[in-house]
Amino acid sequence: MRIVLGVAGGIAAYKAALLLRLLREAGHDVRVVPTPAALEFVGAVTWEALSGRPVTTSVFEGADAVEHVRIGREADLVVVAPATADLLARAAAGLADDLLTATLLTATCPVLMAPAMHTEMWHHPATVANVATLRDRGVHVLDPDDGRLTGADSGPGRLPEPEAIAAAALALVEPPAAQDLAGRRVVVSAGGTREPLDPVRFLGNRSSGRQGVAIATDAARRGADVTLVAANVDAALLPDGVEVVTVETTAQLQEAMTERASTADVLVMAAAVADYRPAAVADAKVKKSGDGLTISLVENPDVLAGLVAGARPGQVVVGFAAETGDEHGSVLDHGRAKARRKGADLLAVNAVGAGTGFGDVPNAVVVLDAAGEVVTEASGSKADVARGLLDAVVALLARDADGAAPETSAAPTTLPR
Ligand code: CTP
Repeated sequence: MRIVLGVAGGIAAYKAALLLRLLREAGHDVRVVPTPAALEFVGAVTWEALSGRPVTTSVFEGADAVEHVRIGREADLVVVAPATADLLARAAAGLADDLLTATLLTATCPVLMAPAMHTEMWHHPATVANVATLRDRGVHVLDPDDGRLTGADSGPGRLPEPEAIAAAALALVEPPAAQDLAGRRVVVSAGGTREPLDPVRFLGNRSSGRQGVAIATDAARRGADVTLVAANVDAALLPDGVEVVTVETTAQLQEAMTERASTADVLVMAAAVADYRPAAVADAKVKKSGDGLTISLVENPDVLAGLVAGARPGQVVVGFAAETGDEHGSVLDHGRAKARRKGADLLAVNAVGAGTGFGDVPNAVVVLDAAGEVVTEASGSKADVARGLLDAVVALLARDADGAAPETSAAPTTLPR
C-alpha cells in the first residue's frame, strides 16, 4: 500500500521516525512529506534514509512531475503525525502553502491525523473548531494522549504512541477481518512477570508484551471476546476493545489465567514468566552490607503446564518458547523438546537474543504441535506473527468441531541457531 506520512513541525516529529519504521515493517511503501518547519526538528536525510524515498517540502520542487497533485492522488492512506495546531488550522482552512497541505487537498483516500501540542493549544476554541471541521469532513483526528509534554508541563496534547497511530491508521484501510473467532473467549497473557526482592527492587525480564498485545488485538479483530492479562506492559501499548487485567508477579498471573481458564476457548501464554522468585521478600529496602549479597530463589509454578493439565476437551492452549541455540542444539531442537515436555496444543518457538524477539522488532516463529511437528511458520511484524498463529488456532478449533485431524507439515524451518 502507498502511504504518505506527513510530519508537521513539533518536538514529537522524532517519534514519526518510529511510526515510519512500523509502517515499513508492515510491508508498506511510505513517502514522507514533512513541512518546512518539521525539518527544523528532524532533517530530510533521516526521512530519506528511513523511507528509501526522496523528500521534498515545497510545491516548487519536482514541478515537472506535478508532485503536489500526484502524491495525494496516488496515496492509499495519509497519516499526519505529529499534527500541530498550525497544521490542523491550515488543513481546516484548505490552505495549500506547502507540499503537505497541497497533498491533503488532493488526497481522496482515508486521512488520519495524530495531534501533538501544548494543552492550552489543544483546548483553544480555534483548535477545537478546526478539529471539528476536519472530523466533519471525514478526516480521522485522534485525541492526543494525556501525559508529559515538552518541558515540565503535562496534560492532554502528547502524541499518541507510534504503535497506536499505526494500528488506528491501518485499521482505516484494512479489509474487515474474517470473524472466525466470533463467539469464542480468548485469554492472552503478555509481558514479563516481576518478582519483588524488597519494596523497591525486583527480578524481571526484557519482555515488552508487544507480541501478546498483537495476539489480543488480532483475536478481537476476528470477533473474539478477549481478555489480556498484562504483566508489566507499558500502558501506552494496551489495546482498546479488550478487557485488560494487570498483574505483576507470576503468582498473580497464574491466578488471573487459572480463574478465566474454565470459560475460555483459547488460552495463550505469551508472557515471559519468571522461572524463579526470591525465597523471601524483605519488608524494608535491603541495605548494602559491603560483603556482596546472595539471593536465595525458589522455583515458580509452571503456569502453562497447569493450564494444559486442566484443559477441557476442545480448548486450545498455546505456549511460547523463547530460545537461544547452544552447544546442545539449535533453537528448533530446544523448541521440539519443549513442545513434547509442555504438551500445549501449539507452541510458538522464537529465537531471542541480541536484536531478535524482544521489544519493537520483527519476529519469526515456528509453530509446533504437542508432538514437536511443525504446524506452520509465521514471520514479519508482531501483527503478522499474531495472524499466522491465530490462523493455526482457528484451524484447531475447526478440527475439534469436525473431529478431523489437523494438517501438519515437516517444512524446512528458518529459525537461526
Ligand atoms: N511458562 C509458564 N510458567 C513458567 C515458565 C514458563 O507458564 N513458570 C510458559 C511461558 O509463558 C511460555 C512457555 O511456558 O508460554 C515456555 O516458556 P520458556 O521460558 O520458554 O520455558 P521454560 O518452561 O521456562 O523452560 P526453560 O526456561 O528451561 O527453557
